[in-house]
Amino acid sequence: MDEKNKAAVVYFSRTNNTERLAKIIAEKTGADLYKIEAKTPYTDDDINWHDKNCRANLEQNDDSARPEITTIPDISEYDTIYLGYPIWWYTLPKIMDTFIETNALNGKKIIAFCTSGSSDIETSVSALKNYGLDVIESQRFGESASENEVENWLKGL
Ligand SMILES: Cc1cc2nc3c(=O)[nH]c(=O)nc-3n(C[C@H](O)[C@H](O)[C@H](O)COP(=O)(O)O)c2cc1C
Repeated sequence: MDEKNKAAVVYFSRTNNTERLAKIIAEKTGADLYKIEAKTPYTDDDINWHDKNCRANLEQNDDSARPEITTIPDISEYDTIYLGYPIWWYTLPKIMDTFIETNALNGKKIIAFCTSGSSDIETSVSALKNYGLDVIESQRFGESASENEVENWLKGL
């Protein structure tokens, strides 16, 4: 990729499914890799979605929840962002809203990818578009998607 079309992979991942794919994408495309990390890390109890009062569920049910991020990655030099996240309650984890609202993604080409147990990516893509983001591609992967699946998707972009 030349200087005018630099890409980065920016992702959030709590149980490493999305992280594994993010690393494959970075390796295959040569994009730089940035992780979004919660200032207060999510414990296993925090993401136990069987418990309706677990932190993740409370946040997902609260439109104003904006979990803090340790360090907002500086992605100003990139034109294209592979934006990765797990699906939480059918959509973006609220920490992605925190990141989006820094405006770091404004004006960039967004290639969204997610991992999930079974839900599709469409609700989260609508959420990204509602922020005015330019989502040019999107792809959902299963929790244990193979390197081949990721590679084939990248080839088709
Ligand atoms: C709080 C919470 C909510 C979830 N909600 C959904 C959901 O609505 N649909 C779905 O298919 N999977 C759901 N999952 C499963 C995750 O999307 C899936 O395990 C994903 O691969 C996790 O990615 P990560 O390892 O990068 O954190 C949920 C997981 C958690 C922790």
